[in-house]
Amino acid sequence: MTQFPDPGRYDGRMPYRRSGRSGLMLPAISLGLWHNFGQDTPHEVKRAICRTAFDLGITHFDLANNYGPPIGSAEEAFGDLLRADFRGLRDEMIVSSKAGYRMWDGPYGEWGSRKSLIASCDQSLKRIGLDYVDIFYSHRYDPDTPLEETMQALDFIVRSGRALYVGLSSYNSRRTREAAAILKDLGTPCVIHQPSYSILNRWVEHDGLKETLADLGIGSIAFTPLAQGILTNKYLKGIPGESRAAQGKSLDPGLISPQALATVRALNDMAGARGQTLAQMALAWVLRGGGITSALIGASKPEQVRDCAGAVARLDFSDEELALIDTLAEEPAVNLWARSSETDH
Ligand SMILES: NC(=O)c1ccc[n+]([C@@H]2O[C@H](COP(=O)([O-])OP(=O)(O)OC[C@H]3O[C@@H](n4cnc5c(N)ncnc54)[C@H](OP(=O)(O)O)[C@@H]3O)[C@@H](O)[C@H]2O)c1
Repeated sequence: MTQFPDPGRYDGRMPYRRSGRSGLMLPAISLGLWHNFGQDTPHEVKRAICRTAFDLGITHFDLANNYGPPIGSAEEAFGDLLRADFRGLRDEMIVSSKAGYRMWDGPYGEWGSRKSLIASCDQSLKRIGLDYVDIFYSHRYDPDTPLEETMQALDFIVRSGRALYVGLSSYNSRRTREAAAILKDLGTPCVIHQPSYSILNRWVEHDGLKETLADLGIGSIAFTPLAQGILTNKYLKGIPGESRAAQGKSLDPGLISPQALATVRALNDMAGARGQTLAQMALAWVLRGGGITSALIGASKPEQVRDCAGAVARLDFSDEELALIDTLAEEPAVNLWARSSETDH
């Protein structure tokens, strides 16, 4: 039996990057538990994914109140793993959760009111079995609640010991500036922003969010960097039965069109020429130049985590390679979160 955790997990293979101008260091690759951590996935698979990640130096695990199915069950499953497999390792881990999307019935079960955020945070802590999470996020901007109220709730969550840091997810550049200014005044700075970002989804560049975050000294963790699996070799020969596109969940199989596949094939060839898998090249692209702190992947198997962690071996691109990627990647509609970041919201 091999030793867990691997004593070589901090041997320098996984780089740790500072989140903006904060003290928080995050692994270049982080693991998200949105899919494959609900009751439809065997415990042993979840366990193998998380243990493999930690052995590879992936210290950050990202959750939200509503991850499942059923909603809430990913936090419960992760809590079981923390107690059984990660006993004694809590201080080597960064655990995050979020509130903002629909979680329970009635007017308080979603969005950004003080009532909703604090109640949801308490529920998350109970499900995970922790006294505090490391990062707590407002999962989306709420156009109907005063931004001051949402930020005051985040500030309270930190001051009351429920979280160490706060973050924003899918807020556009304008709302991020407003929110960050309020948080700074309150004395609880925003240390991280979680936007969607990939070769096929570049709203953070069009919106100016990337510059805004650099300007404000806020770190960033890019979610769905593999466009939910499209930017891997998994759909090159059609839609496999065991894939997110076949599950009728968040990945519309219509996105895997012949045109999209032609792009993916060309990108796959390019990755091969760089000595990488397509997943590795897609992650390296997100992390290029250091503008993004961490790439937040999902995985249905430990082998995928291993493959993704290998991305850090080569993060550099030539100008010619970047130009070719731009030409190949006509942006299809893969941003499901566009509504949360629309400027007029
Ligand atoms: N803040 C937000 O609003 C928000 C929204 C969405 C997600 N997130 C966060 O971001 C995390 C990642 O999202 P995501 O799972 O959509 O990210 P993703 O990394 O773009 O997609 C993950 C999927 O890609 C496939 N895959 C991963 N590595 C692979 C490899 N090496 N080779 C072949 N296929 C591979 C797997 O698909 P199969 O399952 O088909 O095998 C896996 O489930 C979530 O868990 C969550 O923490 C946040």
